[in-house]
This record gives sequence, structure tokens and C-alpha cells, in this order.
Amino acid sequence: ASHMGDDLEKVLYTEQQIQDRLAELGEQIWNDYEGKGVLLVGVLKGAVLVMADLMRTLPGSVPMDWMAVSSYGSGTKSSGVVRILKDLDTDISGKHVLIVEDIIDSGLTLSWIRSNLESRDPASVEICTLLRKPDAAKVEIDCKYVGFDIANEFVVGYGLDFDERYRNMRDIGTLAPHVYS
Ligand code: PRP
Ligand code: MN
Ligand code: MG
Repeated sequence: ASHMGDDLEKVLYTEQQIQDRLAELGEQIWNDYEGKGVLLVGVLKGAVLVMADLMRTLPGSVPMDWMAVSSYGSGTKSSGVVRILKDLDTDISGKHVLIVEDIIDSGLTLSWIRSNLESRDPASVEICTLLRKPDAAKVEIDCKYVGFDIANEFVVGYGLDFDERYRNMRDIGTLAPHVYS
């Protein structure tokens, strides 16, 4: 296998920039939920790396749970079709829930997940996403914690895949044209 970095057109955020931003978000989150408790809910699979690094910026113990839904196919476009592939293990009624995501693209996935979770009578539901594409939004989402707003271009790395590839790349970047052809 060739080096993943060879397939990048440009690096948008380095490993260090990502970690620095997550540390800032983690501090805000820790302050906001102090004394209330929070359940982190990750969305498989893209959010795995954000969850792992964000939760380790927090100085105290926090529980996590996971959902898996289908939204994209294997390509680069959101279909808007959301289906639960794996539900939460825990009952969230009365709990403060923080959804952890890698990216908000069209917003269709998170808008559906949020209303699904809100129907389970939690104390609150907020969203933390590392990346957001304001120009790709098809629905408005109130997102309390955003790492970076980015342009409407396809990005990979740090959990984000192109056809299941590049998730384990440490940086986030755009793919070179030769990868698509
Ligand atoms: C990607 C990404 C978000 C979602 C955003 O997940 O990780 O979960 O799409 O798209 P949207 O805002 O347009 O709905 P994907 O469905 O590719 O699954 P994955 O996390 O397993 O890669
Ligand atoms: Mn995802
Ligand atoms: Mg994907």
C-alpha cells in the first residue's frame, strides 16, 4: 500500500491543529456540564477518532455510547436516507446528551439523529462536531460546539473516509484528482 499522504491534494488541518482545537472544545464542554454530568454519544464510524481524542481532554470520568446509522452510500454524496443500524445501549431519559460527530455536511444525518434522541425525553441534547460545511447545509442545525467551519469540498482523514479509506490518516485534507479517476 502506498503512503496515504501521497493521495492528498492539500492538508487542511494537521494532527496538532486538530488536537489543539479539541482541547479548547473539551474545556468548554467540561465547564458547561460541570455538576450536571454528560453522556457522550458518538456516531459510527466517522466519529471514532474525535470521540477518542475529545474525551481524553476531559479531566473527569464521562460515559460514552454509540449509534450507527446509514446516510451516505459508498460515494461522496449524502443520500438523506437515515436508518438505525445500531441503537444506543443506554436509556437517555433525564440525561444530558452530547452528540459527537466528525462532520456536518448536509446536516441531514444529525438533524434526524437529534430529533430521534430528543423524542426519548433526555434532559438536553447538544452537538459537538469537529467539522462543519456551512455552504452544504440542507437543513439548519443548532450546533453548540464546532471545531472548524470548512469550504464545501470533500475531505478525508481523522475518521473521515472515501469509500472506507483514509480514516486512519492523522491529518485532514482533500484528495488529489488521481484518486477519483
Ligand atoms: C458521514 C459523516 C457524518 C455524515 C454527515 O458519515 O461522518 O456522519 O456523513 O453527512 P450529512 O451531514 O450530509 O448527513 P457516513 O454516513 O459517511 O458514515 P461513516 O461515519 O461511517 O463514514
Ligand atoms: Mn458518520
Ligand atoms: Mg463516510
